[in-house]
Amino acid sequence: MEKFDVVIIGSGPGGYVAAIRAGQLGLKTAIVEKDKELGGTCLNIGCIPSKALLTSSDHFAFAKKEAQKHGITFDNVNVDVSKMLQRKDKVVKTLTGGVRALMKTNKVTTFEGLGTITAPGKVTVKSSAGETQEIETKNIVIATGSVPTELPFAKFNGDTIVSSTEALCFTEAPRKLLVIGAGAIGLELGSVWSRLGSEVTVLEFLPRIALGFDLELSNLLQRALTAQGMTFHLEAKVSAIKSENGKMIATATKGSEEMNFEADKVLVSVGRRPFSEGVGADKVGVEFDDRKRIKVNEHFRTNVEGIYAIGDVIPGPMLAHKAEEEGIACIEHIAGKSGHVNYDVIPGIIYTNPELAGVGLTEDEAKEKGIEVRIGKFPFRANGRALANEDYEGLVKFVADAKTDRILGAHILQHAASELIAEPASVMEFGGSSEDLGRTCHSHPTLSEAVKEAALAVEKRALHIVNR
Ligand code: NAI
Repeated sequence: MEKFDVVIIGSGPGGYVAAIRAGQLGLKTAIVEKDKELGGTCLNIGCIPSKALLTSSDHFAFAKKEAQKHGITFDNVNVDVSKMLQRKDKVVKTLTGGVRALMKTNKVTTFEGLGTITAPGKVTVKSSAGETQEIETKNIVIATGSVPTELPFAKFNGDTIVSSTEALCFTEAPRKLLVIGAGAIGLELGSVWSRLGSEVTVLEFLPRIALGFDLELSNLLQRALTAQGMTFHLEAKVSAIKSENGKMIATATKGSEEMNFEADKVLVSVGRRPFSEGVGADKVGVEFDDRKRIKVNEHFRTNVEGIYAIGDVIPGPMLAHKAEEEGIACIEHIAGKSGHVNYDVIPGIIYTNPELAGVGLTEDEAKEKGIEVRIGKFPFRANGRALANEDYEGLVKFVADAKTDRILGAHILQHAASELIAEPASVMEFGGSSEDLGRTCHSHPTLSEAVKEAALAVEKRALHIVNR
């Protein structure tokens, strides 16, 4: 029987990045994956295919609505959804193939099949053909991720009541698409199909969209998406979905009012839940919390010696990059080094147009914690590059400690917010102040100058707006 230093169960961004780091550190490493392709939800049915469709549909929307502002007109703008899906699938294939190659170059052994922990140090792999293999290892890392949450009264049926997985593969834009939940998935996939021609209605239980992000920017995003044609009903709790004459009818209550919504398809995007079925963690005594997340200490160790867990299966935001950082820190600890994750600096992004990005505390969170803050804001309509791009919706907002000026949070609404947020995140990682960022020379003309200006605005010294 082969004996490894570490066996990682699950090959999503948490698991495969952990495997690479383990390979780099010279640990004899194996990765076990139950699905045919490596890469987990992110690469196969999550981040990557959704971004492929978001970009394609954004180009379509640009050609139809924005290009004329640049003096570009087309006789006819058409979309071929099947070609769009084919491109998305090709991107996914390239990346999953890339992960397989990375496993080889880092000398990581790949096992295909369901990995089950039978005892500390022992993993059984059962392939789809039913063959089993025993692996022995010093350490096990559980990186089994999460799956979409179902509504108890409306189970997924793969056709008319669907999760993000199926909504990435609709062969044509549904005439009417109902989206339940205005989080990242609902807003992103709602945007895709709205751009491609669906009439999209979003029902959200809370009085706002994009929970967790800055409220002011979330409200601006809602306004932008509404202008693009999406309809929002907030404080609307969906309580029933039934099928009537080939149509789906969802019932939602808003206060004492009951409303019905008709649709061809319903996307349920009300969150994800940790997934560890079949892994056997419970059988070997690993402790879970009341939300079925595996409990770990600061080194990602469970209560069982030699068994670790990272990513969506443990507490914290369900984000690929958070899982990656945990994978690296966990492996470094196993290898006797001192890895750690700074949970105060984990950016979050919703890839709509404009994109909504945030890192650290929002203004409201800082106030709730009783921290006195100063706010600096700068609108993209005062940024030369944004005007040159004809793409000036949104703003940058900094939350800085009133006493020390340390940046506690940064929030950006802009077409390129996902890229722009990296700068404040880096400055925050080094404990930097708004003055540090405001005194950094930024290239002209760039969108990043708006980030610098918002940092200057904390001290009311932004250059291209009237400071208030
Ligand atoms: P979410 O937790 O972000 O949002 C779900 C929304 O559904 C909430 O606003 C909630 O109030 C609402 N809701 C729940 N039950 C409802 C009901 N019965 N009626 C109406 N509204 C209801 O969940 P989402 O969007 O499904 O995403 C799942 C996870 O995946 C999240 O942790 C998210 O961060 C992550 N993700 C991140 C992405 C990114 O970083 N861009 C992209 C996709 C997913």
